[in-house]
Amino acid sequence: MHAIQAQSLTKTYPGQVEAVKGVDFEVEAGEVFGLLGPNGAGKSTTVGMLTTTIVPTGGRALVGGYDVAKQPLLARAVSSVVFQEAVVDRSLTGRANIELHARLWGAGSQRRIQELTDALGLAELIDRPVSSYSGGERRRLEIARALVSEPAVLFLDEPTVGLDPRIRHELLDVIAGLRARQELTILVTTHYLDEAERLCDRVAIVHRGTIVALDSPRALLAKLGSEILEFRVAGDPHSALAALRLKRLASTDAFAVGARVTVPLHGQTAADVLAGLDAHPAEISTRVPTLDDVYLQLTGAELADAA
Ligand SMILES: Nc1ncnc2c1ncn2[C@@H]1O[C@H](COP(=O)(O)OP(=O)(O)OP(=O)(O)O)[C@@H](O)[C@H]1O
Ligand SMILES: [Mg+2]
Repeated sequence: MHAIQAQSLTKTYPGQVEAVKGVDFEVEAGEVFGLLGPNGAGKSTTVGMLTTTIVPTGGRALVGGYDVAKQPLLARAVSSVVFQEAVVDRSLTGRANIELHARLWGAGSQRRIQELTDALGLAELIDRPVSSYSGGERRRLEIARALVSEPAVLFLDEPTVGLDPRIRHELLDVIAGLRARQELTILVTTHYLDEAERLCDRVAIVHRGTIVALDSPRALLAKLGSEILEFRVAGDPHSALAALRLKRLASTDAFAVGARVTVPLHGQTAADVLAGLDAHPAEISTRVPTLDDVYLQLTGAELADAA
């Protein structure tokens, strides 16, 4: 049985906003699965449907084998979610927030709460009101709160957004550590590529409500080969790209963002490709591909706008 299964899962909001246009994916038990996409791609809507807070308008989703539309309470009972927006009560202490959530789900012994408090480095804060926590501390509390019911599946919607780099990396370590501790399936959404690469076994790249690629970060990278060429042109980068494609010096995986053209070399030399240009290139460089390239190639300039 898969931990999560989405089949043609669709959400059209009132006003014909097609937020999620029929996505298909399966997440294995114990896997860390990433939904990577720019602002508005449909990540939170997908998480909302999988956690039963948003009603799908088409398709089907199972969490822990339970249909989110037909058996929402059962699907919800085997999973937990840390939403993009904060949901903890700021006037209560961290401990009171966790206890409240534990009671709600009929779970969480004092021992479990103690364990989570220690594991997430909250021991010193737990009896302080949440209003006194920093952003990173509040995030850790929210994760502890989500884990108190011992879920089989944990949903994390942009867990590190708005955190400074040091706290972000600390939190990524915490999340990476979770999977080592137990048989936990994690679905995490992010628009940070390094995060997806560091945490996820597999990543689905979401663009305008559809999945445009789904594979391990390593396999996604491998498709671009071992070396890419990058340069700027003074004129229209898209016509430079079209010219290279016509001469078969660039294929469909080459792309242009702003004035910059990126061409996976796939065994050709940079000189071969540059010789095929009519325009004069500048700022020429070659380098190994990154997940950024995969992402930009599939989603165009939108990530650059979102970042
Ligand atoms: N309640 C709603 N009513 C109408 N449209 C909505 C609603 N919620 C979201 N949308 C739209 O659906 C699309 C997807 O939104 P969603 O929040 O799922 O994106 P996201 O990938 O999580 O983006 P972000 O990275 O900014 O969090 C957006 O175009 C958004 O404006
Ligand atoms: Mg979102």
